[in-house]
Amino acid sequence: MSDAADQIFATLKQSAQSGAPLYLQLRKSIEDAVNRGLIGPGDALPSERDIATKADISRVTVRKAVQDLVKGGILVQRHGSGTFVAPRMERVEQSLSRLTSFTEDMARRGMAVRSAWLDRGLYAPSPDEMMVLGLSSSELVARVARLRIANDTPLAIERASLSASVLPDPAGIGSSLYAALELTGNRPVRAVQRISAANLGDSDAQLLEVPPGIAGLHIERISYLASGKVIEFTRSIYRGDAYDFVAELRLTGPSEEGRP
Ligand code: GLP
Repeated sequence: MSDAADQIFATLKQSAQSGAPLYLQLRKSIEDAVNRGLIGPGDALPSERDIATKADISRVTVRKAVQDLVKGGILVQRHGSGTFVAPRMERVEQSLSRLTSFTEDMARRGMAVRSAWLDRGLYAPSPDEMMVLGLSSSELVARVARLRIANDTPLAIERASLSASVLPDPAGIGSSLYAALELTGNRPVRAVQRISAANLGDSDAQLLEVPPGIAGLHIERISYLASGKVIEFTRSIYRGDAYDFVAELRLTGPSEEGRP
């Protein structure tokens, strides 16, 4: 803990600020210190007791401020070892116009990619899967659910569904679904992707190592073969603090006006 960090609490102690509740004042002081780089990613915060003494406020107040900052993803608490400034995520800039796989996207950035399996197997399809993939209730769906990890940081949870006729052995896909599809001539050539905001539930947040309730991105991709047949229906949750999706926009020429 640097002298600079000690300053935060000294400042707080000196300035009987604005009449705002004390925990809000402390929260702001810590947040400002993080934003100004006085304390950096991975730095440990002093113990609750030390902060309380330094800032001359009660431990309950300190706990409330710290808990708020943990909820907001500014601080992280590690059981038994204390409270730290959260590691800063290097944001991934992802084009919305190229149909690439997670493995390719990360490899292009020089990031080491791996996945943790959450599920893989053949199942009776859900109504959604039947509708999107054009399956009947007597056919099976192959599900491949993975936690996608780049440079040891979990970035996304992806749950892909495909017809069992194109992926009869979901356990055998290796590290890349698209590479496996390519081998059988089933790699998609076109996709429609829908992105919406989502607050992460407890289990997704735990997998992605972020506080529950924090903002994330829900992404649904429906991919097609050249024949127009749907090949992949994937629902994913991406970390909101890790991704910038970028789309290039062009001024529509007069001949294209009115097109969808
Ligand atoms: C992206 C897409 C998914 C697709 C996946 C394939 O992440 N959002 O819809 O299933 O790439 O990636 P990989 O070939 O690395 O398994």
